[in-house]
Amino acid sequence: MKERLQKILARAGYGSRRTAERLLTSGRVSVNGVRVAALGSQADASVDRIEVDGRRIQVPTEHVYLALHKPAGIVSTARDTHGRSTVLDLLPPGLPPHVLPVGRLDRDTEGLLLFTNDGEFAHRLSHPRYEIEKEYYALVTGVPPARSLTALRRGVDIGGHVTAPAVVEIATAPFGRAERDSHTWLRIVIHEGRKRQVRLMCAVVGHPVRELVRIRIGPLPLGRLPRGSTRPLTARELAAVRAAVGLA
Ligand code: URA
Repeated sequence: MKERLQKILARAGYGSRRTAERLLTSGRVSVNGVRVAALGSQADASVDRIEVDGRRIQVPTEHVYLALHKPAGIVSTARDTHGRSTVLDLLPPGLPPHVLPVGRLDRDTEGLLLFTNDGEFAHRLSHPRYEIEKEYYALVTGVPPARSLTALRRGVDIGGHVTAPAVVEIATAPFGRAERDSHTWLRIVIHEGRKRQVRLMCAVVGHPVRELVRIRIGPLPLGRLPRGSTRPLTARELAAVRAAVGLA
């Protein structure tokens, strides 16, 4: 991603942007071997060789944190071996390299999916040790009786793993979704991230999932972000998520 040179220099530790501007105008900066003195000049720190006084500078990567409202029908792997479109196709252009999804949602699951190029942040958010809550709304067939809800709350065997205690309650349709005859919306909060966990949990008690939406990750709600849209996390949201994973 191209950026103004003074911004890149400041990020690389060459003082404030004002100081970096002075470096530029005094002719001490070169890009790919060519001296650059104009203040509007741009470069791509991930591609170009930027030097100050003939020494290559080290530019820390700019971290990006985005929220996507993933629609159904799109896989969340970074590269699909069958050539289908992936969630990466929904990201805005011009992002730095290696901005990847944090964890996954099934192809037919909708809702909040985060993206970042901050490896430590992504690792912690997905690691069970940090017990980050994930909140889902699941539209299931029928009306689960109290004993099924209790079983889901206590933990059910989803094929060799008994799920940890969860919050499970009958709910009304979340924002933007409809009620359906002979179906029930369940609000489910888990902090594990097993593959197809919510679908397996509901199937085990005899109420398969017809629609699934993730509406929260830790302190971060999906809110009213339209399906298929992305937005950067605000500074306050980022601080809250970082605190939740011990990176405050
Ligand atoms: N649980 C599921 O079953 N699917 C998802 O995509 C996420 C959680």
